[in-house]
Amino acid sequence: MAINRTSSHGEWSSRTAFILAAAGSAVGLGNIWKFPYITGENGGGAFVIIYIMCVILIGIPIMLAEVYLGKRGRLNPIASIRYISERENRSKNWQIIGLIGILAGILILSYYSVIAGWTMAYASRTAFGVLNNIDAAGAAVIFENFIADPERLLAWHTIFCIITALVVSRGVKSGLENAVVRLMPALLVLLVALVFYSAIEGDFANGIKFMLYPDFSQVTGKTILIAMGQAFFSLSLGMGALMVYGSYLSSDVSIPKTCVIVASLDTLVALLAGLAIFPIVISSGLEMTQGPGLIFQTLTVAFGAMPGGQLFGTLFFILLIVAAWTSSISLIEPMIIWLIEKYNVTRIQAAIFSAAIAWFIGIGTIISFNVGSDIKIFGLNIFDFLDYLTSNILLPMGGILITIYVSWLLSKEKVDSELKIKSRILRVLWYFSARVIAPIAVIFVMLNAIGINFDIFS
Ligand code: TRP
Repeated sequence: MAINRTSSHGEWSSRTAFILAAAGSAVGLGNIWKFPYITGENGGGAFVIIYIMCVILIGIPIMLAEVYLGKRGRLNPIASIRYISERENRSKNWQIIGLIGILAGILILSYYSVIAGWTMAYASRTAFGVLNNIDAAGAAVIFENFIADPERLLAWHTIFCIITALVVSRGVKSGLENAVVRLMPALLVLLVALVFYSAIEGDFANGIKFMLYPDFSQVTGKTILIAMGQAFFSLSLGMGALMVYGSYLSSDVSIPKTCVIVASLDTLVALLAGLAIFPIVISSGLEMTQGPGLIFQTLTVAFGAMPGGQLFGTLFFILLIVAAWTSSISLIEPMIIWLIEKYNVTRIQAAIFSAAIAWFIGIGTIISFNVGSDIKIFGLNIFDFLDYLTSNILLPMGGILITIYVSWLLSKEKVDSELKIKSRILRVLWYFSARVIAPIAVIFVMLNAIGINFDIFS
């Protein structure tokens, strides 16, 4: 019976441990670095509302499907799907979902680690007071000089890869779980403290207004698609990360409840990050539409000018490193258990090998900011290409396949008995979202990714 199988890689000690781990995966650079800047670029309140709707209507249904696959298969993403397909008389080709996921995970990790490295560099700079009293122009120069130096970027990227490998090489119980159980609550506490700081020192009223007051006149079809893509990335969907975490879930845990908690935590952190950042940006007279440089340039200016900024700036960047770290663990874990199961290597060997591959590919991202900025793939530099390929193509593809596979092709009785959605209305809603809304919505994202824009709302 599938229900009594357990993962050979260990299980979470409790439901709370799973929730913390999945939330640790979800909460990362996507929430704290990306969410504020794309909210800034897309006009604030209306974008936030659309984002939350995407999480509820598309994100959570796909999340349920993904965790379900892992919990039922109990193996690496490829083998889990093969196992389930064999039992359900479905084509083995569905295991391609697992392969896409493992590949996407390592590709995302390769540049994620580089950006996490920037965060480490900024944490140490802020701590040493290097960025005190810096103005906007000065911060821009410092940032540009920093990313122009491949050796520096490589050093921080290397350190980040090593700490990621160190934690995952210790295994689920002692490594992953310990890391997230200790670090996630600390992260939340720091973030709340930062929001308090922002309320006292920043322009809180206007920050909140920007974030919560919806101006729907600015919303286009593209805004909705961006919000949806962000929901995907931020919830760690579509590449098997949550499938793997689900496979460590003990059989008596309710998937839907757990997924709703994880998605809520993820959204809460993104909103808190916005609340912490926007008031400071406004009070410093800086631009909302800075783009990816928002925290690395703007925020250091803000922190540099504020009383106590050195301490809070440092705390903020440390918080971001922690968040990136727990996310990166989930990006590498599918590859690791696949290597262990398929090639019979030890966890340590698998961790070193996987991190080394991500490290090596990451060099491409590093040089795309400096010596290799002229290298173009489909007209994009290496970093932009990797980001584009993973976020806009591989993740949506994985997500759509997962939700179609689970909601259309697997035995409804099995899925129902595992998901145990008691309320009939919620069950019908889940099937409707998983079968219809999510696949259609994801197709919109992908068409957008290849350059076809549906400005149906403009
Ligand atoms: N969700 C993380 C963030 O917001 C990034 C991440 C971790 C991720 N694991 C993932 C994204 C798996 C997609 C798929 O930063």
